[in-house]
Amino acid sequence: MLTEPIITSDPLEQAASLIKHSKYVVVMTGAGMSVESGIPTFRGEGGLWTRYGPPKMDGFKQFRDDPVGWWQKRINQQMDAHIIELRDALVAAEPHTGHHALAGLEKVGAVHHVITQNIDGLDLKAGLKNLTEIHGNRSRLRCIQCGQRMSLGDFVPIEPPEPCASCGGSIKFDTVMFGEPIPADTLAEARRQIDMATCVVAIGTSASVRPASGLLWIAKANGASVIEINPNETKLSPISDVIVRSSAGSALNSLLNLLKICEETPSGAANEPTQDVRSA
Ligand code: APR
Repeated sequence: MLTEPIITSDPLEQAASLIKHSKYVVVMTGAGMSVESGIPTFRGEGGLWTRYGPPKMDGFKQFRDDPVGWWQKRINQQMDAHIIELRDALVAAEPHTGHHALAGLEKVGAVHHVITQNIDGLDLKAGLKNLTEIHGNRSRLRCIQCGQRMSLGDFVPIEPPEPCASCGGSIKFDTVMFGEPIPADTLAEARRQIDMATCVVAIGTSASVRPASGLLWIAKANGASVIEINPNETKLSPISDVIVRSSAGSALNSLLNLLKICEETPSGAANEPTQDVRSA
């Protein structure tokens, strides 16, 4: 929550000042964060659901009812066109400068934790350390019974994976399907981070899918300040304290430059004498 007004008309400077003066900054990213890596968004202009129509909401039920049949379809490439487009974009994607800038903001201590709704793993590839992947990660498998996760490694599914070695449960991709609950450990960690946040920065998300988006309102209710970085208006805009109408890459690089300067010259240090003038 703002304690005193920030005197600047530039939203980026306002955002940088809010971040700099906040004790615990949590970033929530959405599909818009990876647009500059060639991965389409889901909603809005050019989004997958905009072009192909809304997805079926029973993906998880279909898997649970017939895990082997689900894997067979996947192996035989019998997938909807939007899944094929998303998969091809994910395979080709590399982190863009915005992912690296976000990792840089973590490095200079400006950002303490990132919760991403994205499954592309690009934050990890860019070197980010403190990350919760609330919708999972496409390069991992997970048992739906005990929650055990394993790296996909070079596993290319040519046949359905064996049942979980620990509990015999069915193994699926770690990515959370529609109708599937967010794994309890993941949701608990995301909520723990949000409850510590004194500032949340929502980047490239329409803030329209719960429970992830609901965490942003919880942070606001907890008294955190809210910064939105998005070229378009969203449901979050009306409760945002600062709005940066920009792409993720441009905004994050600007924030890193603004905050790196602060980090190099801690607040007030520039005016402090290098020695006790009284003794001069
Ligand atoms: N930089 C920043 N934001 C951008 C950019 C960009 N270059 N381009 C688009 N955006 C914004 C759009 O304005 C939009 O608000 O990114 C947002 C993407 O919104 P969605 O497609 O709804 O993505 P997201 O909010 O992550 O969706 C949440 O919905 O379908 C599920 O599991 C899926 O994790 C996803 C969840």
